[in-house]
Amino acid sequence: MNGTVVVAGSASGDLATKLAGKLDLPLIETRLKIFPDGESKITLGSGPAAERALVVQGMQPPVDSNLIRSLLMVAKAKEVYHDVTAVVPYMGYARQDREFLPGEVVATEVVAELFRAAGASRLVTVDIHSKMALDRFKLPARSATAIPLLAEHFSGLDLKDPLAVSPDAGGSGRVEKFAGLCGCDHVSLEKRRDRVTGSINVLAPRPDIVAERDVILVDDMISTGGSMIKAAETLRGCGCGRVFAACTHALLLDGAAERLAEAGISGVVSSNTVPGPTCLIDVSAAVAAELMAG
Ligand code: R5P
Repeated sequence: MNGTVVVAGSASGDLATKLAGKLDLPLIETRLKIFPDGESKITLGSGPAAERALVVQGMQPPVDSNLIRSLLMVAKAKEVYHDVTAVVPYMGYARQDREFLPGEVVATEVVAELFRAAGASRLVTVDIHSKMALDRFKLPARSATAIPLLAEHFSGLDLKDPLAVSPDAGGSGRVEKFAGLCGCDHVSLEKRRDRVTGSINVLAPRPDIVAERDVILVDDMISTGGSMIKAAETLRGCGCGRVFAACTHALLLDGAAERLAEAGISGVVSSNTVPGPTCLIDVSAAVAAELMAG
């Protein structure tokens, strides 16, 4: 990737630095000023002449601010460099990938179009919520994955007859991959979400499937922790052993870390797509590989 620079957004400075290290590329710093009314002003630092830029900026909270900062950086980078790739370690709005209820905006599609309009010619993210979300992008878009790294982490733990569990059917492919790499069984729970109130209900599996076994809940993300907590409570009701949580993006909003612990979840492990106390997994090599691949 000669002739390329890595632009570090304020939301993803550490990952951008690691990515630049992995790819042996110069790092361009950015400066963020937030005006009293909340507007963001971004200034790109200088660097060596280059053809291409990788603009690294995740969309963890504050989601809308980090989205607009990403778009501003892409637009400025496009003035300076011929080709710009948006690297979005955590892709917000990806859960709004379809019209669940009449009148809802398919926000993923709008966000995808914004990246294209700002000047990105391709996009790389990590464990995007769904294939449908990825398909909403009308520019070449790829999703790297932290699942093999999470599986490697949990394979190294001393677990009793481990069972990998997805809190919902939408994560069945993800948990199957995780379990295959760990060499353990897997199951997907049935989660029902009330699309109006947002409340969720998780149906119990057959108790004999989980009884006495250590369980690893595997999901793309933890936001409020509601899905993991419901799943943990359901599994504990079936007599499982210890419960662990593995996810790529740990937003851990509204005291989620404390509530997960109160729900008896022994440990949460996530990746550094979102900086925080649980991000033990470094995805920079996986992102670098995805950038090299396409
Ligand atoms: C939903 O389908 C996602 O895969 C996650 O399960 C969900 O978004 C996590 O959100 P929360 O932690 O608020 O339940």
